[in-house]
Amino acid sequence: MSEKLATLSFSDGTPSVDFPIYSGTVGPDVVDVRALYAKTGKFTFDPGFMSTASCRSNITYIDGDKGILMYRGYPIEQLAENSDFLEVAYLILNGELPNAAQKKEFDDTVTKHTMVHEQLSFFFRGFRRDAHPMAVLVGVVGALSAFYHDALNINDPRDREISAYRLIAKLPTITAMTYKYSMGQPFMYPKNELSYVENFLYMMFGTPCEEWKPNPVLTRAVERILILHADHEQNASTSTVRLAGSTGANPFACIAAGIASLWGPAHGGANEAVLKMLDEIGDVKNIPAFIKRVKEKDGHAMLMGFGHRVYKNYDPRAKLIQQTCHEVLAELKLKDNKLIELAMALEKVALEDDYFIQRKLYPNVDFYSGIVYKALGIPVSMFTAIFALARTTGWIAQWKELIGDTEQKIGRPRQLFVGATKRDFVPLAKRK
Ligand code: ACO
Repeated sequence: MSEKLATLSFSDGTPSVDFPIYSGTVGPDVVDVRALYAKTGKFTFDPGFMSTASCRSNITYIDGDKGILMYRGYPIEQLAENSDFLEVAYLILNGELPNAAQKKEFDDTVTKHTMVHEQLSFFFRGFRRDAHPMAVLVGVVGALSAFYHDALNINDPRDREISAYRLIAKLPTITAMTYKYSMGQPFMYPKNELSYVENFLYMMFGTPCEEWKPNPVLTRAVERILILHADHEQNASTSTVRLAGSTGANPFACIAAGIASLWGPAHGGANEAVLKMLDEIGDVKNIPAFIKRVKEKDGHAMLMGFGHRVYKNYDPRAKLIQQTCHEVLAELKLKDNKLIELAMALEKVALEDDYFIQRKLYPNVDFYSGIVYKALGIPVSMFTAIFALARTTGWIAQWKELIGDTEQKIGRPRQLFVGATKRDFVPLAKRK
């Protein structure tokens, strides 16, 4: 029982009620209002979950005011600097960094799950070649549950683990197949001698016609982007995965739901939207007119890649990705790139403008990730799909945490009903 209590008093005669307050290891306390309805007949009202903690979690911690992001207690800067993606995936899934033997076993297991069922490749043919990669990804990942029946008992920890391996291992293959399908090129089978990221780039850019060699600078850039996107506590898509998971749905269905949620331009779709916005602005000289439109909310114009529900300071991931962006542009000899010049000029104007300062709007991770992808030759429509590939690790870890949580119940919010009250049916002939 909690020692700290919150007392809620009412002006309508309802007696005051006490609620327990819990403290996490770090971060704001929470008031446990689960008994509010039983005690008072009232609900809380919190559209957009502005003040609602939906679960206990020990995976990812964010302090939005200070610009801090940690996976399992490790600052994102240290992981981005020192780890590879699979090491971070192991950490997110298991809670601890692996030792050398554990790392080898994990890498081997993921590597050996990278092929997809051959019949899954026929599934792609049902889509038009110009289908959006996220539409294909939602469908194909959802379809995985029809291919891997053997380990779908969500109450068996071993089945949950196998599904986690399958999802982390197969997402790069499926994402690359999505790209190849859109290009009309043959699908490339994974190669076990390549690392996770090299394999993804090979399946994206390799062809059967010639030898493909990994470029360490570009591999490292994608490795970093995947690490930075691997988890982000209870954001919209993760909450979608948890909500779907709370019904007992299988993990492939839950991740497909998460992918659908990520697609929106207010969430993972922002990296694509940033590039479209930069294209639309076209030149540094057009920045003032664009900023004016944003400030006047003209036609819902927004500075895409800016602002975040939680970060009210510089997104720590944006800083790291900005550095990666410069490395990639230097490697590809694109240093005087017009796009980066435009992005940096836009960032500078926004950071000095009162509208953005007052609203604490800073660049988020997506402001620079799109520029890196573009430099790598990845088409804009694939950006969010790569985000989904990375976030699959976080989603599956959050799903596993949910299923193992004895406090978890089916997610079922209530509402403040403001529609018509009871009225009698009027036959069609008598309606005006
Ligand atoms: N450009 C211009 N104005 C903005 C922006 C922006 N990018 N973001 C917020 N604002 C303004 C709002 O219009 C609002 O202004 P007002 O007070 O005059 O009404 C104020 O800032 C507060 O904004 P909210 O919408 O209340 O902030 P919220 O926390 O709900 O939204 C969100 C956060 C959705 C990320 C928003 O900032 C946004 O849409 N940004 C652009 C899209 C984007 O980059 N999304 C990526 C998020 S990171 C990720 O998912 C990986």
